Order: sequence, then structure tokens, then C-alpha cells
Amino acid sequence: MKFSDEKLKEVEQIVKRYPEGKHKSALLPVLHLAQQEFGGWLSAETMDYVADLLKLKPIEVYEVATFYSMYNLKQVGRYMFEVCQTGPCMLNGSDDIVKYIHEKLGIRPGETTEDGMFTLKTVECLGACGYAPMMQMGKHYREHLTKEKVDAIIEECRQNAASKN
Ligand code: FES
Repeated sequence: MKFSDEKLKEVEQIVKRYPEGKHKSALLPVLHLAQQEFGGWLSAETMDYVADLLKLKPIEVYEVATFYSMYNLKQVGRYMFEVCQTGPCMLNGSDDIVKYIHEKLGIRPGETTEDGMFTLKTVECLGACGYAPMMQMGKHYREHLTKEKVDAIIEECRQNAASKN
């Protein structure tokens, strides 16, 4: 496991953003890069590699990677539904959305469909409380969720996947 030369240059640029001796500050963006590069999740091997690269102890990487929900610690599906479950979203039906996704896809939070297509996750407030209930999908937010919207999103993902196969 190793970043390409191009990605290693990117790591160097990230590290340079921080003062000398403060390279630990580069950990979050480098973990994002590692997650993108190595299959969408952070294996122990990947975290050890990042630790080695940034001259940190592996435990320093593990404690950060396990704290933030944006890092995946096991393999995830092609599409990830990160449903917000904090107060405002919960009061507006996020539990029903999670339940509906389970009914539709047969997965509970933390699980991935057998075909590797969808992963369901519950996360804390994503700062879009006014659009509750909502979820994050990659770089996009899906807001004011209803069962019908969930149906449409699942269909959209399937069509998107089919068009790229
Ligand atoms: S509570 Fe869901 S986005 Fe804030």
C-alpha cells in the first residue's frame, strides 16, 4: 500500500500548510485522501501507513479516525446514506426514514447491502437542521426527506450505477 507519486506530492503540500513540527495537523486531510485512494475506507493497514507517513504513532491516527463519522472503518457501499439522527431531524421523522431504508434495502445502520451498492449510517447534526429530516450522500445533502424521496434517490443511484457499468 502506497500513495502514487502524485498523491504523495499532495500530502507534501498538505503538510506544508502547517508550521514546522505541527505536522499532526495534516492528519485529517491526509486521512480523507487515504480514504479516497484506498477504496473508500480506512483499514488498519491504511491507518498504519498514514501514521508512518506523518511520523505519528499509530494510536494517534486510530483515535482520530475512530472519532469522526466521516471516516469509514470498514468497507462501504458505492452509495452511502448518512442519515442525521440529532434532535431536529429526529423530531421531523429521521427514525422513520432509517426504518424505511431498512424496509427497502434490508440494511440497518452500519450495514451494507449484499450487492455492495448501499451503506446506511446514522450521524450527528450535519448543520442543515432547517431542512430536516436530511441525509448526506457523498458531497451532497438530501433534504426534507420523505419515503417517496427515498424511493427516488434509491432509483437514481441504481440508474447512475447502471449507466457507469
Ligand atoms: S439535526 Fe439534522 S442537520 Fe441538524
